[in-house]
Amino acid sequence: MYSQILSLALAGTALAYPSIKAQGPIGGETPASFKGLWTVPSHEYSHGQFKQVVYISLDGMHQTDLTTYLSLYPNSTWAGLMKNSVVFSNNSGSTPSDSFPATTAVFTGGTPRLTGIYWDDTWAKEFYPASSNCSGPIGAEADWSVASDWNSSSVTGGNAFNLSATPMRVTAWGSCEPIFPHDYLRVNTIFEVARANGLNTVYMDKHPAYEYLNGPSGLGLTQGFFPEIGAVASNLDAQIAWDDLHWSALANVTAGHYVNGTGDIDFSLIGINFQSVTWAQSNGGGYATGSTLANPIWGANLTKAFEHFDAKLSIFMDQLKAAGKLESTLLILSSKQGQSPVDESTLKHIDSNLVINATGVEVSFLTGDDAALLWLKDGSQAALAKENLMAQATELNIDYVLASDEVWEFGFGNPRVDPRAPDVVIAAKDGTLYSTNTQTANHGAWLPDDLDVPMVFYNPTFTGKNMTLPVKTTQLASTMLSALGLPLAQLDGWRKEGAPVLPYLNLPNN
Ligand SMILES: *[C@@H]1O[C@H](CO)[C@@H](O)[C@H](O)[C@H]1NC(C)=O
Ligand SMILES: *[C@@H]1O[C@H](CO)[C@@H](O)[C@H](O)[C@H]1NC(C)=O
Ligand SMILES: *[C@@H]1O[C@H](CO)[C@@H](O)[C@H](O)[C@H]1NC(C)=O
Ligand SMILES: *[C@@H]1O[C@H](CO)[C@@H](O)[C@H](O)[C@H]1NC(C)=O
Ligand SMILES: *[C@@H]1O[C@H](CO)[C@@H](O)[C@H](O)[C@H]1NC(C)=O
Ligand SMILES: *[C@@H]1O[C@H](CO)[C@@H](O)[C@H](O)[C@H]1NC(C)=O
Ligand SMILES: *[C@@H]1O[C@H](CO)[C@@H](O)[C@H](O)[C@H]1NC(C)=O
Ligand SMILES: *[C@@H]1O[C@H](CO)[C@@H](O)[C@H](O)[C@H]1NC(C)=O
Ligand SMILES: *[C@@H]1O[C@H](CO)[C@@H](O)[C@H](O)[C@H]1NC(C)=O
Ligand SMILES: *[C@@H]1O[C@H](CO)[C@@H](O)[C@H](O)[C@H]1NC(C)=O
Repeated sequence: MYSQILSLALAGTALAYPSIKAQGPIGGETPASFKGLWTVPSHEYSHGQFKQVVYISLDGMHQTDLTTYLSLYPNSTWAGLMKNSVVFSNNSGSTPSDSFPATTAVFTGGTPRLTGIYWDDTWAKEFYPASSNCSGPIGAEADWSVASDWNSSSVTGGNAFNLSATPMRVTAWGSCEPIFPHDYLRVNTIFEVARANGLNTVYMDKHPAYEYLNGPSGLGLTQGFFPEIGAVASNLDAQIAWDDLHWSALANVTAGHYVNGTGDIDFSLIGINFQSVTWAQSNGGGYATGSTLANPIWGANLTKAFEHFDAKLSIFMDQLKAAGKLESTLLILSSKQGQSPVDESTLKHIDSNLVINATGVEVSFLTGDDAALLWLKDGSQAALAKENLMAQATELNIDYVLASDEVWEFGFGNPRVDPRAPDVVIAAKDGTLYSTNTQTANHGAWLPDDLDVPMVFYNPTFTGKNMTLPVKTTQLASTMLSALGLPLAQLDGWRKEGAPVLPYLNLPNN
């Protein structure tokens, strides 16, 4: 039985988790055994155009919600920032748009073919099942949602990972060991690049498993802050209170402290997300009748969530100014993924077990929300599974199915050689959710409602511009590094896939 302690920074400590693998300092003192091995902060690359980058994601928000926001609240804080903002109004989130690949896109610049991250809960053909002894059939579920927490009913996640619930692998020295979330990512993150060059980084998200942004080195985050959203009550006030924990942490970091408000530290790369918009969209009544993506009409809870965001943004802008950091900060207001459907008249829940049964073959695993990815016991049956699924396309609201090599032709990894790539991909019609819960929206697919996300760059020296050329959230990784003057060549995602630095910000693409 494995149980390793993970301090989550929630009650004031930095993320520091002893692991089976050597770990460097995560926020605290350099452990004795690492003295001399760790790159001493040098600020060698801190001569970028900006001293700090702050990336804020209002998970679930659409670009069209921004248009609504600005027209409903012309006197809001965000509206006030627009005259000094470069706006990319034709931006696309990641495919798939599940929170894990969506976050991965922003902080690695890579697509799933490269990163190996398709969803938060997937099948991985190269690992052995949790709690196994690494014998028997290879292939395991890798579930990086609440399932890997030590205690998912606690907002701290129990301050530990449950390593009896994470996949196992045979190490180079022949032992069978469980993996941590950061072991699952196949490429490095911009946090690792920043830290390797002596800058401090902090990331805040919704489950402890987001420590995976430490990257394969396990060292990318000076500090992580991951209060467990799954432990928070499903009502607006509780979701807003969770957001406020993040705002409080951001205030402390902005003032030059650790998340808990103590110490003196300069964070150069700061990432944070908020959840009450996404909660209101999916569990809080969502959009009003008559809404479309082009014209979303906010329900009462969604309105309140956006109003709360604006009030907090106003306070944050004052804190930035008070800290003397307004001019030296590149502020990014964005969303890592949208939410589908906006038009709730199209909503249709379909039991994912019906989908599994319809394949007519043995399925190792299905993951899905508004699309579905399937891993088969025998990948050579993918074409047969597709044929069987298409025979029930109407009942299952299927738009199209990709099988085997078609998955690769679409842009994902090839399931015949890549242990992470799904054997079968189901693209559903608008409004479909492959689940039996009562949510009115979710994400994961690559429908317009999933992908149409805002991306606004603010700095008081910018001249407002609205750019309609198509861009992608994968470009944020290189853009953030470039803003800090960090070398793009150190980012795997940029070297291998080359998502370029965004134009119109006067940042170099190298
Ligand atoms: C606050 O966080 C810092 C950095 O992680 C840690 O060294 C310190 O002990 C914490 N303080 C308290 C009061 O928890
Ligand atoms: C915005 O402020 C202006 C000037 O103070 C005021 O006239 C207008 O009514 C306000 N608009 C809204 C929607 O609050
Ligand atoms: C591994 O576990 C399986 C199932 O529990 C058991 O049958 C097998 O003997 C174990 N193998 C080793 C080498 O311990
Ligand atoms: C998990 O956390 C909840 C909420 O804090 C607590 O009531 C419960 O006792 C914890 N369970 C364990 C096993 O520690
Ligand atoms: C850890 O995960 C295992 C396997 O899923 C489960 O049996 C066990 O109850 C979990 N432990 C805790 C403390 O939740
Ligand atoms: C931020 O610092 C204050 C003390 O200045 C502390 O009360 C608060 O809990 C800290 N926020 C977080 C998220 O730890
Ligand atoms: C808004 O959220 C509250 C819980 O905070 C819930 O009771 C209410 O039903 C929601 N409104 C709608 C229209 O669903
Ligand atoms: C799927 O098939 C199994 C086995 O035949 C059956 O028990 C189950 O009810 C089916 N599920 C659905 C949702 O039809
Ligand atoms: C950009 O578009 C927004 C609406 O989406 C508008 O409020 C803003 O004024 C525009 N900015 C410029 C510089 O045109
Ligand atoms: C957005 O980009 C797409 C190409 O991806 C293009 O077809 C479309 O016209 C663009 N939209 C606007 C408003 O420019």
